Amino acid sequence: MEFWHNRWSTNNIGWHRSEFNDFLVKHWTSLSLEPKTEVLVPLCGKSLDMAWLAQQDHSIVGLELVDQAVKSFFDEGEMDPQIETIGAHVRYSCPPYTLIQGDIFTLRAETVQADAWYDRAAMIALPPAVREAYVEQIRHQTKTGAVGLLITYAYPQHERQGPPFALHDEDVERLFSNGFEVERLENIELEDERDRGLSSITSSAYKITRV
Ligand SMILES: C[S@@+](CC[C@H](N)C(=O)[O-])C[C@H]1O[C@@H](n2cnc3c(N)ncnc32)[C@H](O)[C@@H]1O
Repeated sequence: MEFWHNRWSTNNIGWHRSEFNDFLVKHWTSLSLEPKTEVLVPLCGKSLDMAWLAQQDHSIVGLELVDQAVKSFFDEGEMDPQIETIGAHVRYSCPPYTLIQGDIFTLRAETVQADAWYDRAAMIALPPAVREAYVEQIRHQTKTGAVGLLITYAYPQHERQGPPFALHDEDVERLFSNGFEVERLENIELEDERDRGLSSITSSAYKITRV
């Protein structure tokens, strides 16, 4: 927890992008969602991808630990959210966005009932030991039939200290084996990343359906 607060307070947020994610733009339509449906964005930071999802006529529910990240998202979008405490969490609302600040692992089941979820730099930000609990939270905060777009990185873990933590095909299959269907949409080699001391690194996009 302290780790993420430090990253935000020192503006050490190298994961943040000023452009929309390529996989999101390319593959979102393959989830076949209706307009107006609600998309959960776990570990959302201040991601601009939430704005892209809003442009597709979705409402967005982001989950984020660090209040500075949540405030930056609204400040930078020149929005003035309503703020409400819900137990140990704080809900910031400014339609179409709701960001719930606090620890995802202590969010009460069914606080959110999303139709879909988008995971970029969320599951890979978490150490392997808590990934099962993370998948349980996805299950608790989505409806039956919900679909997700998951983006992963896979590389030899011993060659770099996480986060991000490598998430291989077999990990995805295993973690989502109970009550989900997994389809890999695309897998690419990341040549630029390999130059930074990794012997190999790939990135994949998955469509995951909660059955
Ligand atoms: C690597 S960043 C990715 C942010 C965003 N998904 C993006 O693509 O820009 C991971 C984010 O998860 C947040 N985070 C870490 N642990 C969390 C937790 N237990 N509950 C909620 N958010 C958490 C961090 O503060 C950080 O903003």
